[in-house]
Amino acid sequence: MSNRAAILWETRGEWTVEPVELADPGPGQILVKVKATGLCHSDDHAVTGDMPVPLPLVGGHEGAGIVEAVGPGVTRVAPGDHVVLIFNPPCGHCRNCGQGRSNLCLNAAQQGYGQQTPFSARGQSVAATGDLGTFADRTVVSERCAIKIDKDVPFAAASLLGCAVTTGWGAAVYLGEVGPGDNVVVVGSGGVGVNSVQGARNAGANLIVVVDPVEFKREQAKTFGATHAVASIAEATELLTELTPGRLADVAILSVGVSSGGLLAETVDLVGPGGIVVITSVTPAASTSLDLSLFQFTLTQKTLRGNVYGGVNVYRDVPLLVDLYRNKHLKLDELITSTYTLDDINQGYADLHSGKNLRGVVLLED
Ligand SMILES: NC(=O)c1ccc[n+]([C@@H]2O[C@H](COP(=O)([O-])OP(=O)(O)OC[C@H]3O[C@@H](n4cnc5c(N)ncnc54)[C@H](O)[C@@H]3O)[C@@H](O)[C@H]2O)c1
Ligand SMILES: [Zn+2]
Ligand SMILES: [Zn+2]
Repeated sequence: MSNRAAILWETRGEWTVEPVELADPGPGQILVKVKATGLCHSDDHAVTGDMPVPLPLVGGHEGAGIVEAVGPGVTRVAPGDHVVLIFNPPCGHCRNCGQGRSNLCLNAAQQGYGQQTPFSARGQSVAATGDLGTFADRTVVSERCAIKIDKDVPFAAASLLGCAVTTGWGAAVYLGEVGPGDNVVVVGSGGVGVNSVQGARNAGANLIVVVDPVEFKREQAKTFGATHAVASIAEATELLTELTPGRLADVAILSVGVSSGGLLAETVDLVGPGGIVVITSVTPAASTSLDLSLFQFTLTQKTLRGNVYGGVNVYRDVPLLVDLYRNKHLKLDELITSTYTLDDINQGYADLHSGKNLRGVVLLED
């Protein structure tokens, strides 16, 4: 049984693809043959050090596959089931899970990379991203990580429900509270941001303005529902001032690859009085400053909101998104620009950086 994984051994290193040892599934755990895993920018933050992670680390938190075996006491899934994998699995019984806010589970590994790991390599334990580690032929995860899906949903499309789609969708629909007639700006329309466009469109938005310096992303955004696409925040400000005098956007979502206090402040200025700003992007952990007119912020009653997993409740929203996909309200296959083998994963990230991909996906061999 081949089992290789892409491991990060040092900050600013490359992913090295090599054989790994995998523990057998224990009580409540399942062995999953990973079939597809998306190349999310968050894994790159582990590489750059912008996001502190334990090392060595098996990457990947956006995956789908087939259950091959189950440990003692597993009831949610059975061998042969097709599943979407959920990172930082919620416990289901803490206060926040009880409120349907499983993304904020108080018992999940929120800080979370690799609290539990089935992997070892070169004679040492290797952490698993988000308690998943989907940059691997196989992984062993809690059954709480698995959401069963119908077998006709392609694995590559399904993998994106593990992060990009849920996070982007939820940023608009839940955290941004987009409603009919709202004007929305999405700053950064990559794999995650373009799903905020899809969420805003489904929620009944009026204007959906995308800001992205890459022309390919702007063109793509329009096929996903953006009404306008511009290259800079300055152009978006000009456009909104012209189209919505005195009002600007109702909701702004920041989903650039690497954020900063400066970009965030500019994004806050895109919404009018009462507007909501959602920060999906990861800002380097060492960055702590935001230069914002607090006087203006208070007296315009704006809301600034973080984003963990789009504010979704995975057990409700993953099946909901599959239904929307089936009925053609949500595009998934069209999100995938390029596919790669595991051996080509560094090329996949090079293509993310050069702006070539809306989303790159690694397809794992049998
Ligand atoms: N909060 C969460 O739960 C969560 C989950 C997933 C991803 N993320 C984060 O979301 C961000 C986006 O992830 P992704 O996978 O979509 O990345 P991506 O690289 O696919 O997309 C980023 C996009 O931002 C654009 N961009 C770069 N600089 C810009 C600028 N100054 N103005 C406008 N656009 C700009 C790029 O051209 C690209 O299209 C990352 O920081 C990632 O870590 C957060
Ligand atoms: Zn992600
Ligand atoms: Zn919980």
